[in-house]
Amino acid sequence: MIVILDFGSQTTHLIQRRFLNLGVETIIHDPQDFNPKEFSRLKGVVLSGGPSSVYSKNSPNFSFDLSEINVPILGICYGWQLIAKKLDGEVLPGKREYGPAVLKISEPGLLFKGIDENSFEVWMSHGDLVKKIPSGFEYLASTNDVKAVAVANEDKQIYGVQFHPEVEHTQFGEKILQNFIENICQLKTKEKKIDVNGVINDIKAQLEGSTGKIISAVSGGVDSTVASAIVAKAVGDRLVPIYCNNGLMRFDTVKHVKAVFADHLGLEPLIIDCEDEFLEKLEGVTSPEKKRKTIGKLYIDIFEREAKKLKKIKYLVQGTIYSDVIESQGSKNASKIKSHHNVGGLPERMSLKLIEPLRNFYKDEVRELGRQLGLPDEVVNTQPFPGPGHAIRIIGEVNKKRLQKQQQADQIVVEVLKETGWFEKVFQSFPIMTGVQTTAVQGDGRAYSELVGLRIYDSSDVMTAGWTRLPYEVLQKISSRIVNEVPDVSRVAYDITTKPPATMEWE
Ligand code: XMP
Repeated sequence: MIVILDFGSQTTHLIQRRFLNLGVETIIHDPQDFNPKEFSRLKGVVLSGGPSSVYSKNSPNFSFDLSEINVPILGICYGWQLIAKKLDGEVLPGKREYGPAVLKISEPGLLFKGIDENSFEVWMSHGDLVKKIPSGFEYLASTNDVKAVAVANEDKQIYGVQFHPEVEHTQFGEKILQNFIENICQLKTKEKKIDVNGVINDIKAQLEGSTGKIISAVSGGVDSTVASAIVAKAVGDRLVPIYCNNGLMRFDTVKHVKAVFADHLGLEPLIIDCEDEFLEKLEGVTSPEKKRKTIGKLYIDIFEREAKKLKKIKYLVQGTIYSDVIESQGSKNASKIKSHHNVGGLPERMSLKLIEPLRNFYKDEVRELGRQLGLPDEVVNTQPFPGPGHAIRIIGEVNKKRLQKQQQADQIVVEVLKETGWFEKVFQSFPIMTGVQTTAVQGDGRAYSELVGLRIYDSSDVMTAGWTRLPYEVLQKISSRIVNEVPDVSRVAYDITTKPPATMEWE
């Protein structure tokens, strides 16, 4: 077993995911009360990253003695800085680095064994860095800005990396973690298989002996569709999909929802039209968190009102996936980034039991489950669309006029990307109504109108993202069409920020 001590990184669970994919038993543990002697099958310890500085008051710490633990240790980012500080190293505030950096290997050691490139891209997310490494350690790799990017004390089997090997954008990240498991902890690995039948059987077991209708909140997105399809396979037409048409979703979503459920699952979804109610409640709301909460609460109110018209409901299906759980709840030492909108709160109010078949899966795994269910490519590969929809892509107040502008610009982005074969290659793409007014010269006259942001990026598990290197002609086409066709737009700016440091959405 490998124990991961969680110092509050947004990606601690990705470390666990990589190990689970290698078939290695892993638990995430609070560092403060971790006692290695209590784990008889312990084969290695990983110290995660975290948002704190090792020098801040009350920063998370561990209390076991590094010299007494006799299994290999890997410190990642904050975890590595903490190890350095506990030994005789020195950690100082350094040049802040968020996003990509190029690492150069000086000594492969066991950690970089089998990686045939000497220099590759890794992802960083740190403010402090280790200025002086503890005695007995040697440098394995550096970047131009940071010397101690990967270090080892092979005698004591303690390793430290300043970058995040667990994120998908770090090249050879999985290989580095695999090396830690296989070469350093000496554990055997085997590949994890995803099997939709196992998930369907789990749901059947959960619902054994139950009767009555089961409702599901659907959005047309991959998560709620796959979650509902899994439950439909388990209980057939006891499932009633409900779609709340709040006007904040992408063009034609109602038509798409009806078609998917009818064609592939033989079910007719219940459609609730409530666009005006949403616009009314959003009047004057400008803060992003208040927007999310307003939308979330109204959604629940409407959903409850309509669902109560159906009789004898005991269960609610929700398409919650693992990254939603992590980003909204965080963990003891983690920062909460934002509250994700879902139907939380509804189960208690309606005394419903929750069915969440996807709670332990990542987006790319959900897509794999969808493929195994035989859902078509346009459903499985569709871009994720946030619960609060266009509302969090309109900075400031959402009103009918701004929503129409956003919908029109969004439709243009979708059309151009589809025409040029890019729509399904990118993870998400959308315009942003920034609310910033800028000058333009249009038809020989001066205009002073809105700057539209454009965000298009690549990712697979939503935890990290890089902006898509679209051909200039595609960008030009999007920009010309938006400025020419959408009223009151002065210019289009392409967002070239990675996540981290930026999030994917603007709000
Ligand atoms: P961020 O902006 O946090 O986005 O990097 C990560 C992923 O989550 C989606 N997202 C949301 N989804 N409710 C949702 O259902 C929300 O409030 C929300 N905020 C962000 C986002 O589109 C991206 O896929």
